[in-house]
Amino acid sequence: MSSPSFPTDSSTPPSPSSLVESPPDSFSPSISPSSSPTTPVPSTPSNPPTTSPPSPVVDSPTNTPTSPVSPSSTPPNSSNPPRPSGLRVGFYQGLCPTPNVDVEATITTKVQQLFSKDATLLPALLRMQFHDCFVHGCDASILLDGPSSEKTAGPNLSVRGYEFIDTLKSVAEEECPDVVSCADIIAIATKELIKLGGGPGYSLQTGRKDGLVSTQDVKLPSPFATVTESILAFGEKNFNPEEMLLLIAGGHTIGKSHCSFFQDRLYEGTSQFDPNMDSNLREQLSGTCPQGTNSDNFTFLDQNPLSSSKFDNSFLDQLLNGRGILPIDQALSRDSQTSSFVLQYAQNPALFNAKFASVMIKLQALDVLLGDQGQIRKVCSKVN
Ligand code: HEM
Repeated sequence: MSSPSFPTDSSTPPSPSSLVESPPDSFSPSISPSSSPTTPVPSTPSNPPTTSPPSPVVDSPTNTPTSPVSPSSTPPNSSNPPRPSGLRVGFYQGLCPTPNVDVEATITTKVQQLFSKDATLLPALLRMQFHDCFVHGCDASILLDGPSSEKTAGPNLSVRGYEFIDTLKSVAEEECPDVVSCADIIAIATKELIKLGGGPGYSLQTGRKDGLVSTQDVKLPSPFATVTESILAFGEKNFNPEEMLLLIAGGHTIGKSHCSFFQDRLYEGTSQFDPNMDSNLREQLSGTCPQGTNSDNFTFLDQNPLSSSKFDNSFLDQLLNGRGILPIDQALSRDSQTSSFVLQYAQNPALFNAKFASVMIKLQALDVLLGDQGQIRKVCSKVN
């Protein structure tokens, strides 16, 4: 797993707004090529980067690439059709050995069953998706095991949901062996969970391949960074400040944070002390995270008790009331580079949902491996 070869796609994703289910407006965030300046772009003769861009909602025959597939990635379909190499809605249709099998629907049904038993799968997967996509692209590299793997890097230590992905992979393998990538399984599950948790629905494009490389060189934004530093970090991945705000707000409207990430905001004399935190919240959090302790306790990132586990825009209201948890979250409502977006989306839930869906589509297309790049892992935690 030490191969330095990691081709990235430099193609332009489709307009996300065309894939959002019933958006209330015609939002179309600025999309630029998704290649990351921090990711090496070598190619090898056996694994050349595709030049085909991820295609829009449904491909026309002219933009369905027909690049040959290597024997190892050929689906066990009797007629061996050429595998399309762009991201597109319905990518897996016709690729399974049994005709008329809809493997994406099978995975989605399993997600629905498991979510009905454990609603915390939504925050687990949404965070996993972000952490995977921001490091070498959405290639499931976060799932790879190994002593110095991405999974074991500091920022990923509390990422959850690996067994859930393994379960979904088993379901996919049973119905359609060696065809569905682990990267797509993360994407399919995340998209479905957002909807199940009360968030927007959108048409998901599939066709991602799994990466071959995993290293501990994980550069994710820090919860203690300034807004300017975070804007720079998201800018490196071609997300503008508004898109950054949407992603963080959508991510942190659900799920939890451990004390270590916000404890210093509570106590006078500590490095991050925040005198402007809502006083009721400070009192409550002092109980959860007593000064001087290294408690493993946690609190909800969205402090609206009615919607801490629900996808909505109430997290933004909480920020406006000084009830943010992470230092970076609270800073978003106080910094002039992002405060107007906080206000705007706090006031308009429908717009927030539509724009979040658009930016999720963009996130899920970040530096994806396509066509002959990467592989379809047999087991998500190991390269083949
Ligand atoms: C500046 C950017 C970001 C920073 C610094 C950040 C940091 C954090 C931290 C420190 C936690 C608490 C982890 C723990 O205590 O275990 C957290 C949780 C979470 N983050 Fe972020 N995050 C950022 C952006 C995002 C984005 C863009 C998403 C998704 C779109 C996201 C989704 C989540 C979710 C869902 C959780 C809750 C996880 C759970 O309950 O298991 N975050 N984040």
